[in-house]
Amino acid sequence: RSVESAVKRSRSAHLRRSFHAGAVPERKVAILGAAGGIGQPLSLLMKLNPLVTRLALYDIAGTPGVAADVSHINTPAEVAGYASEEQLGKALEGSDLVIIPAGVPRKPGMTRDDLFNINAGIVKSLCTAIAKYCPNALVNMISNPVNSTVPIASEVFKKAGTYDAKKLFGVTTLDVVRAKTFYAGKAKVPVSEVNVPVVGGHAGITILPLFSQATPSTNALSEEDIHALTKRTQDGGTEVVEAKAGKGSATLSMAYAGAVFADACLKGLNGVPDIVECSFVQSTVTELPFFASKVRLGKNGVEEVLGLGPLSDFEKQGLENLKAELKSSIEKGIKFAKEN
Ligand code: NAI
Repeated sequence: RSVESAVKRSRSAHLRRSFHAGAVPERKVAILGAAGGIGQPLSLLMKLNPLVTRLALYDIAGTPGVAADVSHINTPAEVAGYASEEQLGKALEGSDLVIIPAGVPRKPGMTRDDLFNINAGIVKSLCTAIAKYCPNALVNMISNPVNSTVPIASEVFKKAGTYDAKKLFGVTTLDVVRAKTFYAGKAKVPVSEVNVPVVGGHAGITILPLFSQATPSTNALSEEDIHALTKRTQDGGTEVVEAKAGKGSATLSMAYAGAVFADACLKGLNGVPDIVECSFVQSTVTELPFFASKVRLGKNGVEEVLGLGPLSDFEKQGLENLKAELKSSIEKGIKFAKEN
């Protein structure tokens, strides 16, 4: 069976090479927390991605079922499930991209920061394994609070001597996805054409959508409309948490957003030019050490962190208002990683 699958592998690699002008590299993607509310639909979407050659699904509970299920889909990515900590190394080995949606989600009344105590420990142990088994992989951090889990990951990698700021990303794509949807609805423009940068961080007022830079631009929106759209984008996660009434937070829209961002990372790795997405990364755009803004993706991860561009007075105020909270969330993550 292994000979057969090796033959299949080399045949499909050969086909991929002959169908494209340049060779499309084989890519292994690992999802940690693959059996969760986000992990399952994200595993499905990554199985559908033609850039994925191997898909490693890891979770501490429920992996075999999810891996067996997803593996029956007739797309090229080869699926393998890993179900216990002893198998984490095998799941990670050779990965080009690791996506982390492991951890507990919010319940009504909780902030993302309320998740800190549980998720900080999970992220720390998973990143310790990444440093050991696939230190060169890009890491897409979904686990909340992203404003703190990304700094935790950076400290873990620094301690292990493997930190590369170009390869660590906090996934804020869901904020962008929401901003696009809400803007299109309000401005009555085709949603597929809409672009809206979202900067800052990934919690409450640290989420700063830049509707003044939204395209296609419109005169149809009043100042009140912009304020309401901003608030709805900032509270989008809470809207879902409340609607799910105790059954978790955004999973389907998050899986979509995670798949969009992972696809952009893979395209960047493969040398596709002009791949730009917003992400929470190490940054000098403001005085804060981590900040979300537009990032150009390339063969080594972050190719360029782009500036904020011109801001409206309302956005300038929003930027000043978010800095204190974002700073303290970053510091909280760094402190946790140093003390634990
Ligand atoms: P969930 O509880 O449905 O799934 C989490 C999964 O992680 C479970 O299958 C669990 O077994 C697994 N897990 C726990 N500890 C683990 C470990 N040490 N190693 C591997 N897997 C482990 O939660 P859900 O809804 O999928 O959310 C996951 C995370 O994503 C939460 O922290 C949530 O706050 C965050 N999130 C982030 C968003 C973003 O925009 N960045 C949006 C929505 C949620």
